[in-house]
Amino acid sequence: MQETRDTWQSNIGFLMAAIGSAIGLGNIWRFSYMAHEHGGGAFLVPYLTALLVAGIPIMLLEYGIGHRGKASSPLALARIDRRFEGLGWWMPVVAMFGIMLYYSVIIGWCANYLIYSFTLAWGENPEDFFFNHFLRLSESAAVWGGIRPPILLATALVWLACWLICFRDIRHGIEKAAKFFMPLLLILTAIMVAWTFTLEGASEGIFNHYLNPDWSKINFLSADPEARVAAGRVWAAAFGQIFFTLSLGFGIMITYASYLPAKANLARNAVITATANCSYSIFAGLAVFGIVGFMAHSQGVDFAEAIKGGPQLAFVVYPQAISILPDFNALFGVLFFLVLVIAGLTSGVSLIEAFSCALTDKFNWPRKRVVSLLCLLGLLGSLIFTTRAGLYLLDITDHFITSYGLVLGGLLQCLIVGWFIGPEKLRRHISRLGSRVPTAWNFFIRYLTPLALGILLLMALYGDLAVNYSGYATRHLLLYGLGWLLCCLAAAIILSRQPWRAVKLKRRHRPGEDELLV
Ligand code: PHE
Repeated sequence: MQETRDTWQSNIGFLMAAIGSAIGLGNIWRFSYMAHEHGGGAFLVPYLTALLVAGIPIMLLEYGIGHRGKASSPLALARIDRRFEGLGWWMPVVAMFGIMLYYSVIIGWCANYLIYSFTLAWGENPEDFFFNHFLRLSESAAVWGGIRPPILLATALVWLACWLICFRDIRHGIEKAAKFFMPLLLILTAIMVAWTFTLEGASEGIFNHYLNPDWSKINFLSADPEARVAAGRVWAAAFGQIFFTLSLGFGIMITYASYLPAKANLARNAVITATANCSYSIFAGLAVFGIVGFMAHSQGVDFAEAIKGGPQLAFVVYPQAISILPDFNALFGVLFFLVLVIAGLTSGVSLIEAFSCALTDKFNWPRKRVVSLLCLLGLLGSLIFTTRAGLYLLDITDHFITSYGLVLGGLLQCLIVGWFIGPEKLRRHISRLGSRVPTAWNFFIRYLTPLALGILLLMALYGDLAVNYSGYATRHLLLYGLGWLLCCLAAAIILSRQPWRAVKLKRRHRPGEDELLV
């Protein structure tokens, strides 16, 4: 074991960094759009259920594994058993090469729009501006077109910012940045929400569409079979969202918890991280629904017509609304896109950290060199998403990585802890350190959570086999979706076969007995 592992300077610093990883682009537009599509306020029921059934239990599990193993995910899992090292690599590989490559490009879009806000450069028709002037979107995923220089420039700056933060050790890099950015993010979001409340029509959006539950959408016991299937999808979407939003299944929380001191209240930290993240989503949702309500009201259109999903919500609907604000349009635009950039950056650094820490844990390479090389490689890898087909490619990659990559990571971790080392051992380890974990957690990790995640995976698979995702051509789905997943798998296998340079691991374990159990 490395004797001189870095630690966080304070528990607050750790919490800020973990919450910073959890709160990201997904909290602002992904959550809001999902809530709208899936029954408004009623979506909160499956969402909060998913938080309790999968979110908090797996957060606890990841904190437990990381803290106990004092290592990033490959080493922490290899210490449980050598055979699990591959899974330990799969998660950070997916984080770094599956997600961060396109996540950085989206933060880059936000940075561009931050600048555009000063002059409301999107003009009269933000939709046309976004697709035809900014992205210059090609006709299909088959045509890459050239690289878009403004997107490339912003993406390079994003990687530079991440490099500057990750380059230093954990205390002086990620912790310091999180302690600065997270309070700022909260203040800026609060200003945005308060501002939104002053707009005419905003309360309509909030009270009639956001907080107004359509219970029929979540009733999976409905007599109507079609409604049952639709409700099932809503529940699956809620579980997927919880995973993504809490940054679970990437090895991030394992890595962050490994930097905690020997005595740390993991249970309380897990509950705080998860609650803060979800409260932030619900809070930020007020600004999103408010502004769409305001726009629908000003233009005399239906709310359903005004709201749009995916990236269009941030890059088309918001600019539209910003343009018609009564005062200080530019300021509001800057505020909104700044919120997105900050939320994105604090998540981005966690994706890089999970992988770079995994490499240093295994190969004993110097951190600075690893981070520099990774950021450079990351920028090169991102180039594909800065092309004119970038939007298609990232949409496909995101769909497959989030539907399968992370859920699989979470499911396998549950099975390892639930059935291999036994949840009781980890529960006792966590409880000894601070707040007690209820024994029901064992049941969740063994049965309930893996069952829920297994169903989720099967539903996603069924959906993808039945219809091509978003109508893309099969070969593109295979190439950028399945192909990407297979590349991550290959990388994980190759990395797990390399010899350990930094630590000595036992060759064989007896089942149920891992290195750190006493
Ligand atoms: N949790 C982040 C969000 O909601 C996304 C993210 C996923 C960040 C995975 C890091 C790791 O946007």
